[in-house]
Amino acid sequence: MRNSFNTRNLINQGCFVSVVLSDNRVKFVTHPLAKAILTSLRDRNTKQIEFRRGLVRLGIFIAYRIVEDFPTEEITVETPLGVRAKGIRIPDLDRVVIVQVLRASMPLVEGMIKIIQGARQGVVSARRVEELGMSEDKWFNIEVKYVKFPKINSDDNLIIADPMFATGSTAIAVMNELVKRGAKPKRIILANVISTELAIKRFLEAYPNSQIYTIEVDPELNEKGYIVPGLGDAGDRAFGE
Ligand code: URA
Repeated sequence: MRNSFNTRNLINQGCFVSVVLSDNRVKFVTHPLAKAILTSLRDRNTKQIEFRRGLVRLGIFIAYRIVEDFPTEEITVETPLGVRAKGIRIPDLDRVVIVQVLRASMPLVEGMIKIIQGARQGVVSARRVEELGMSEDKWFNIEVKYVKFPKINSDDNLIIADPMFATGSTAIAVMNELVKRGAKPKRIILANVISTELAIKRFLEAYPNSQIYTIEVDPELNEKGYIVPGLGDAGDRAFGE
C-alpha cells in the first residue's frame, strides 16, 4: 500500500537490520556480491582505493537493478544466418539523466554509466552545513553551490545518485533545486547504497512519484547525522579527508 511503512526489525547476530516493507517504491539490490562488497566498504580497515573501487562496483549493481524495472519492447532482428530472431529493446536507456551529488557519488556514477551508457549527466555540489549541526528533528541546512545539468524532459528518467541517504535533507534540497530550474522528469529515481527509513519516508512524502533503489537500510542516525552502523563519511573514505 502506498505511503504506508510496515517496518520489521530483525535482530540478527546482534546486528539490528531494519527493513522497509510493503511500499513498492522502495527497491532493494539483493545480489549477494553487492552485499559482500558493501560489507567490505563498511569495514574500517578498507583503504581508500579499495573503497572507491567498491563504490564503482556497487554503481554497476544499482544500475542493473534500476534497468530491471524499465519497460521493454519486443523487436525482431535478422541474424547472420538470414533467420529472424525475437528479442527486446529498452527504449528508456536513452532517456536517462544521472545527477551526481559531489563528491561521494562520483565513483558510484562511474559504475552506473558502464550500464546505462546513454545517460546524460548533471552535477550538483551540495554540502551539509555541519557547523550548524543537525536540528532536533534531524534536518540539516544544505548549501547548494554548483548546479549544472542538461535539459530534463517529460520523457526522461532522472536518477539522483548519492551513496548515503541519511536524513533526506540533501536529496530533497537537490531535487527542489532541479525542479526550481525546470526539471520535469517522467520518473524520479534515487540511487543509494545505504538508506534510513527516515530519509526514505521524507523523500517519498516530498516526491510521492519517486522510487528509491538501495542496497541496505540501516536502523539509526548518530547525533552528528551519520548512519549507524553505516560506513562512515563516504566522501572522506573515497577521496581522503
Ligand atoms: N554522509 C556520509 O558520508 N555518511 C553518513 O553516514 C551520512 C551522510
